[in-house]
Amino acid sequence: MGIDKDLLGKYTLTTWGYKQGEMVGLMIHLGVRLGIYEALDGAGPVTAEELSLATGLHERWLREWLRAQGAAELLVTADGETFELETEAAMVLARRDTPTYAAGVFGSIRDPRVADGLAEAFRTGIGLSYDDQGEGSEMHVEAMLAPMARALLVPTVLPALDGVADRLAAGAKVVDVGCGAGLALQLMAEAWPESTYEGYDVSERAVAVARERFEGVDNITIHLAGGEDVPPTGDVDLVMTLDCLHDMPRPDLAMGAIRSAIADDGTWLVKEIKSAPEWGRNLRNPMLAMMYSTSVATCMASAMSTEDGLGLGTLGLNPVALEEMVTEAGFTRFAMHDFEDPTNLYYEVRP
Ligand SMILES: C[S@@+](CC[C@H](N)C(=O)[O-])C[C@H]1O[C@@H](n2cnc3c(N)ncnc32)[C@H](O)[C@@H]1O
Repeated sequence: MGIDKDLLGKYTLTTWGYKQGEMVGLMIHLGVRLGIYEALDGAGPVTAEELSLATGLHERWLREWLRAQGAAELLVTADGETFELETEAAMVLARRDTPTYAAGVFGSIRDPRVADGLAEAFRTGIGLSYDDQGEGSEMHVEAMLAPMARALLVPTVLPALDGVADRLAAGAKVVDVGCGAGLALQLMAEAWPESTYEGYDVSERAVAVARERFEGVDNITIHLAGGEDVPPTGDVDLVMTLDCLHDMPRPDLAMGAIRSAIADDGTWLVKEIKSAPEWGRNLRNPMLAMMYSTSVATCMASAMSTEDGLGLGTLGLNPVALEEMVTEAGFTRFAMHDFEDPTNLYYEVRP
């Protein structure tokens, strides 16, 4: 059998392309950490010397970093001497209050020991919880999800749910299951201060951040407990599970607990990753490789972190699978909303 040189070239380039991504990712991390993108934002075309004067950073290091960024097509340069961060690039790399801001995801670098844990998980079958992802991991989650949450949750998503905004304004009981560091609760409590809010999460790291965030705030309480432990009070007006059911080892148990906690006329807002039951349709997602890799490293790892874990993972709750599970848990009404969010679908589920 002869070797197909074109195919060999393709696999070589694809493989090195991922290495290039890793190295450019490290450069983005430095750009975020050192405030270089912010210094470039609005500065027009600049040289390393000018950037050095503006930032106090070493000129030679900046010149090489700028060339790396030009080569990566994140900065515009015609000659490798003068570089510009275009407005649209600034909306992704420099402006933290923009829904398209992505550079925050590069803010923390994955603890190399996580790879040891993952390798072990392939042998034992038992994965890593969110807390096993290492120091700072809870802020990595927030960096990834916050720009879209800030842009959509209060202005668009909640007002689209039947009667929910009115109830929140009048004073509702809200439970956020898998609340992480508490960003959604913060945004909602600012918008609807009459309501009371409870967050549940199993991550000690995330709960510690949330508790610090809400210290002295009377209408927000954070519980270090899982979705499966939400008490069966039957009086919750709004339950939310934002980007977390697929991370839970036993989402079925959490759904059962939510059914017993929710009021008969309550609403359950589910935010889940946009995916389809068919592999071919998922291939339309240009970030599919990143999503499956994130699943192995984080989401499925968490969903497999107990002996009885169902292991759904990042793409495991497509609309068909979700509707089946919530029906099994005793819910009868299920509506899907597709907002301007490239990554997620939103569901309005009722008893
Ligand atoms: C991707 S994060 C989403 C956090 C937050 N909802 C947000 O949108 O920013 C998933 C969260 O699910 C939490 N989680 C995993 N298993 C859980 C369980 N059994 N019960 C409650 N939360 C759980 C993790 O600790 C993590 O904070």
